[in-house]
Amino acid sequence: MKEAKEKKLHNLFFDLSFSEHMNQKELYSLANQLSRSLSSVKFSKNPFALHFSSYNGEIKKIMNELKCTKWIAYFYEEDLAQIKDLPKNLFYLSPDADELLETFDETTSFIIGGLVDRTVTSCVSLNKAKSCGIKAVRLPLNTGAIKVICFNQL
Ligand SMILES: C[S@@+](CC[C@H](N)C(=O)[O-])C[C@H]1O[C@@H](n2cnc3c(N)ncnc32)[C@H](O)[C@@H]1O
Repeated sequence: MKEAKEKKLHNLFFDLSFSEHMNQKELYSLANQLSRSLSSVKFSKNPFALHFSSYNGEIKKIMNELKCTKWIAYFYEEDLAQIKDLPKNLFYLSPDADELLETFDETTSFIIGGLVDRTVTSCVSLNKAKSCGIKAVRLPLNTGAIKVICFNQL
């Protein structure tokens, strides 16, 4: 976290606390999507500092299998709510948030819900944000009926 602050990188957290909402296929899909989107972050001109909270249990096993620990990222076994020194200007991205994300700057950090739900369960990330006392915002999408997007699109 200190290094990210020094390099003034945007912090991007993936909240991996939703394993119980996913079956094995969805867990593998999550790990694969993370792996694909993270390689694009790696080659980005403005890379993010990546953080994975609740890196434990089944998702940790699968991500280890896929050699995700080789990624340059911060891995926390604990839940978001237990992480000390979270960035100040931090927003939880949720498709069910009332508030739209209109602007952000170099001090803004984001959390993405690490959840692949083939049968969409509403408000999972919104409820998590509320329970951690973190403000939830929705992306201003211009995609008609599609309100939820997957990691690659994010
Ligand atoms: C496949 S979605 C999971 C949707 C799930 N039903 C929920 O309650 O979050 C994975 C994550 O992508 C992010 N996301 C997807 N669509 C979004 C949107 N329209 N606005 C903000 N975040 C979005 C959220 O962080 C979400 O948790």
